[in-house]
Amino acid sequence: MTAGLEEGKSMSNTKLPPANSKLPDESKALNGKLIQIDHLVRIYKLGEVEVHALRGVSIEVTKGEFVAIMGASGSGKSTFMNILGCLDKPTKGTYILDNIDVGSLMRDELAFIRNKKIGFVFQGFNLLSRTTALENVELPLFYSSVTNKERKERSIEALRKVGLEDRIYHYPNQLSGGQQQRVAIARALVNDPSIVLADEPTGNLDSRTSVEVMEVFQKLNELGITIILVTHEPDIASFAKRHVVFRDGKIKSDKINANPRIAAEVLKTVPSIEEEDEA
Ligand SMILES: Nc1ncnc2c1ncn2[C@@H]1O[C@H](COP(=O)(O)OP(=O)(O)O)[C@@H](O)[C@H]1O
Ligand SMILES: [Mg+2]
Repeated sequence: MTAGLEEGKSMSNTKLPPANSKLPDESKALNGKLIQIDHLVRIYKLGEVEVHALRGVSIEVTKGEFVAIMGASGSGKSTFMNILGCLDKPTKGTYILDNIDVGSLMRDELAFIRNKKIGFVFQGFNLLSRTTALENVELPLFYSSVTNKERKERSIEALRKVGLEDRIYHYPNQLSGGQQQRVAIARALVNDPSIVLADEPTGNLDSRTSVEVMEVFQKLNELGITIILVTHEPDIASFAKRHVVFRDGKIKSDKINANPRIAAEVLKTVPSIEEEDEA
């Protein structure tokens, strides 16, 4: 999948960034570093009390990586992901996303970057229950000025990528948990994001379904999509190419996983519940 901006197409289809924007021409992003984070600090102030959620995190991520973020509860993973996703700003330190200094952006510029560059997948799927799979996937495109036809076509294509082209008119309650999460992944993809962020995406799923979802992430990663995924399960992290472990608001270790498990292979060894039921 090529990003819309590189095709020189989506920019005209998308609401323009605000005037005086600091957003650079994307063609100037040369060094391949998608994310450059330096001494990131996030302090939550609760009245008199300060919570030091991130205490100086530095990390770089290159296009096409598949990173698992791990660490105990309270170690700062979600705080880190919220900043990565431009949902929150650091207290101190720098965050450069695709050569854009996110810390210097205004609110509306931040929202523009978020919509344009980032796809989110959450533990609880966060689908609208009274809308079909297709309509759920179409949602992010309502913030862009694409035509109805293009919106539908792109959404069906995203659903095809996650293997749900035969379920587009199903409502969430007519889909299994794994299928619902795949709809959420399709929704995250529909804007051709530079990066997909997933916070405990398999947290609500049984083990086989979790591997199915990891198979989807691995397939997307093979297409060149950068994925950053939070998990506390080593089994799930074993599918990623890099392991970053947080402790007490800092990175405790950061290692390449030289032999990621292949989800498609693992699935061959675990019978599906449907197959068992059909047999
Ligand atoms: N909105 C918030 N206000 C105050 N403290 C917070 C907030 N969000 C998280 N924290 C605190 O920051 C620390 C890191 O939390 P979090 O990033 O959610 O960790 P994790 O996702 O690894 O479990 C914890 O001590 C948590 O209680
Ligand atoms: Mg968390």
